[in-house]
Amino acid sequence: MENEAEMSGAPHKRPMKKSPTAIGNHPLSPETMMMGFGFDPALSEGSLKPPIFLTSTFVFENAAAGKRFFEGVTGKRPGGAEGLIYSRFNGPNQEILEDRLSVWEGAEDALAFSSGMSAIATLLLTYVQPGDVIVHSGPLYAATETLIAKILGRFGVTWLDFPAGATREEIDGVIAAAKAKGRVSLIYLESPANPTNALVDVEAVQAARDAAFGADQRPPIAIDNTFLGPLWAKPLASGADISVYSLTKYAGGHSDLVAGGLVGAKRFLDPIRMMRNTIGTICDPNTAWMLLRSLETLELRMSRAGDNAAKVCEFLRNHPKVESVGYLGFLEEGSRQADIYKRHCTGAGSTFSLYLKGGEKEAFAFLDNLTIAHLAVSLGGTETLASAPAAMTHLSVPDERKQALGITDNLVRISIGVENADDLVADFDHALQAV
Ligand SMILES: Cc1ncc(COP(=O)(O)O)c(C=O)c1O
Repeated sequence: MENEAEMSGAPHKRPMKKSPTAIGNHPLSPETMMMGFGFDPALSEGSLKPPIFLTSTFVFENAAAGKRFFEGVTGKRPGGAEGLIYSRFNGPNQEILEDRLSVWEGAEDALAFSSGMSAIATLLLTYVQPGDVIVHSGPLYAATETLIAKILGRFGVTWLDFPAGATREEIDGVIAAAKAKGRVSLIYLESPANPTNALVDVEAVQAARDAAFGADQRPPIAIDNTFLGPLWAKPLASGADISVYSLTKYAGGHSDLVAGGLVGAKRFLDPIRMMRNTIGTICDPNTAWMLLRSLETLELRMSRAGDNAAKVCEFLRNHPKVESVGYLGFLEEGSRQADIYKRHCTGAGSTFSLYLKGGEKEAFAFLDNLTIAHLAVSLGGTETLASAPAAMTHLSVPDERKQALGITDNLVRISIGVENADDLVADFDHALQAV
C-alpha cells in the first residue's frame, strides 16, 4: 500500500519511529512510557520534548494528499485520518496525549477533550438519539446528571438509575424496566461515585447487559473513572467499553488546567471522534502539552497522595470530634463494597469524606481553621483541598436527595495532595481543635 500511495502522489503520514513498548520479553510499564511514547524527536529538530504546535491548520504536501486525509477523517475511507488537517480535528500534541492516555488502561485508542464535561457531552451526543433511555448508576457528578436529565430530557431522552453498589439482580431489574420504556442506547456508570465514594460492580453490569441484549444491539458501557483512574482502577479490564476522565483532576494533577479524556477500543471511539470533529470539543495544544508533562509524574503523584491519605485517614478515624471517615481503605471486610473493591481497585485513592460530629457550624469551623489545606472544590491536585458539598457543590440538590446520598451538613470532602503527611496531620489536628 505504501508504494501505491507514493505512486499516486499521496504520501502516508510522515514516518515516525515506533516508540518502544518492551525490552525483549519485558513489557514496559506505563510510568516509563510516559517519558517518550508517541513522540519522535527526529520529526521536531531533535527536540527532547515535543514543541507546542500552535497552528490552526496543516499544509498538505499536494492536493491528492489533502483529498486522502479528508477521505479518512470523514469516514469515506476506513482507517481514519492519515495526516493532520485542521486543529479542530487534531494536532500533534493532542495525538501524543491520546497515545499516552491509552497506555494506562492498555487500550487501543483515546480521545482528548477541552473538559471532562465536554468529553461526556460528546459521548452522549454520539450514542443517544431522541426517545432513547439511558441506564446509569447513581449518583453521578452533578453536571452529568443535569446533562442527562435536563438537557437531553429536552430532546425526549429519559433515564433510569440503579444505586452504585447495586447487585446483579437489581441491575437486571433496572435494565428490564428501561427496555420496556424504549431503546437503551447507553449504560453510564461512575465509580467511585461523587461524592459518596460508592463503587459500582462493573463486572455485574457487563453480565447484566450481555444477558439482556443480543450481541448486535448491546449498548456500550461507559464509566467515569476520574476518582481512581488511571492508576488505581482500570475499568476496561473489568468489562467497561469506554473509560471517561476529567483530566482536570489526577491526570492534570496540579489544579492548573481543565481537560477531559475518553479511552477504549477504536470501534467505540471512532464515532465519538467524528462528533468531536463536528462540534469542536478537542482540547487545545497548550493544555495537551501540560498534560504530557503531568503524565510523566502521574504514578509518583498518585502513589504519594494515596500514601498520605492512608496516614491522614488513620489519624482522623480515631479523633474524638470525628463521627466517621468515608475512605475506600476502611471498607468493612466481607461487605459488598469491599468485594467490589477487591475485584476492581488496586488502591483506595486520596479523595474521601470526613463526617464531623455536629453540623454545618462544626464543618465550617474546621474548614476555616485549615492552614495548609485550601478551601476549594475539585480534587486530584498536588495540594490538599477541602470543601463542604452540602453548602457548595451540592447546594442546589433537593434536601431529600442530599439526605439519601449522605450529603449532610457535617460532611467535609477532602482531596489529599503530595505534601508531607505529618504536616497534613498537624493541620487537621489543629483545625479540629477549633471545632
Ligand atoms: C467525577 C467527575 N466527573 C466529571 C467531572 C467534570 O470534569 P470537568 O470539570 O473537567 O469538566 C468532575 C468534576 O469535578 C468529576 O468530579
